[in-house]
Amino acid sequence: MSKLLKIGIVGCGAIGSSLAKVIISDFSRKAQLVSLYDVDIEKTYGLANKLDNKKLVALNLDDLINKVDLVIEATKVDSVFDIAKKAISSLKDIMIMSAGGAIKHYSELAALAEEKNVRVFIPSGAISGIDGLKASACSKIHKVTLTTKKPPKAFLGVPYVLKRKIRLDNINEETVLFEGDCLTAIRAFPQNVNVAATLSMAGIGPELTIVRIVASPKIDKNIHEIEIESDAGKIFSRTENLIHPENPKTSYLAVLSAVATLKQILNPVKIGT
Ligand SMILES: NC(=O)c1ccc[n+]([C@@H]2O[C@H](COP(=O)([O-])OP(=O)(O)OC[C@H]3O[C@@H](n4cnc5c(N)ncnc54)[C@H](O)[C@@H]3O)[C@@H](O)[C@H]2O)c1
Repeated sequence: MSKLLKIGIVGCGAIGSSLAKVIISDFSRKAQLVSLYDVDIEKTYGLANKLDNKKLVALNLDDLINKVDLVIEATKVDSVFDIAKKAISSLKDIMIMSAGGAIKHYSELAALAEEKNVRVFIPSGAISGIDGLKASACSKIHKVTLTTKKPPKAFLGVPYVLKRKIRLDNINEETVLFEGDCLTAIRAFPQNVNVAATLSMAGIGPELTIVRIVASPKIDKNIHEIEIESDAGKIFSRTENLIHPENPKTSYLAVLSAVATLKQILNPVKIGT
């Protein structure tokens, strides 16, 4: 039997906990969860206890990095750069979930990964269509637009909405709250950063990717629509996300896309772009 890939998870919240369980239940032939770390030590112990293995607890990030072949980052947008830099500098591969934090430092991380000969994986997350976008990017792309539709109440407390005093309870039909480039969208709607960032990194970058944010009283789930126009043709994808069955804090597809990325890493045959 070939050597098991040793995995460590940084961030024991909704995504980290879900992934930890899947690694143990579905990947035991090829991978082993060897370490967990969270800035909140109670969360680290909480997850290790749930998994019935206190040996998984790492007391700091270096401790985790030293033990693993692959770091899975599932923390927050502000933390990902430091974690990724440390992992890559220590010659460890990393899977990044907080894509919105990676985009600001994309060039630096990519250059460091190249220098250290380390792989950085950024799963598609809660959207579909990244495969077609990546292929289209090998030709000339003319336009990429992301339209994110959410129920009005999903925008409660969002800085952009507060600043413009938008009355969410008065929205009775589909209303475009914002349309602009991805960088401005990320600043205005910080909770929407990951999907927009992943799309930008896979395609034509944050300055040229257009983001439209729509409040819709007709829907009860988050919907992401992507339109791509390139020399290779037109692509339209629509993703209606459901919440994770065991973890209502996160969308199911975001977790599954990390699981699918792990499969790509572990399997010799890789299907899809
Ligand atoms: N790519 C996508 O489509 C997608 C979808 C959903 C969430 N996400 C992102 O994935 C990340 C994890 O999401 P979640 O729902 O599990 O969040 P969560 O809040 O449930 O869990 C995050 C955990 O990380 C811990 N943490 C924060 N900073 C840390 C640090 N510096 N070192 C170690 N631990 C730290 C927190 O204590 C918390 O336990 C977030 O950045 C989120 O925005 C991406």
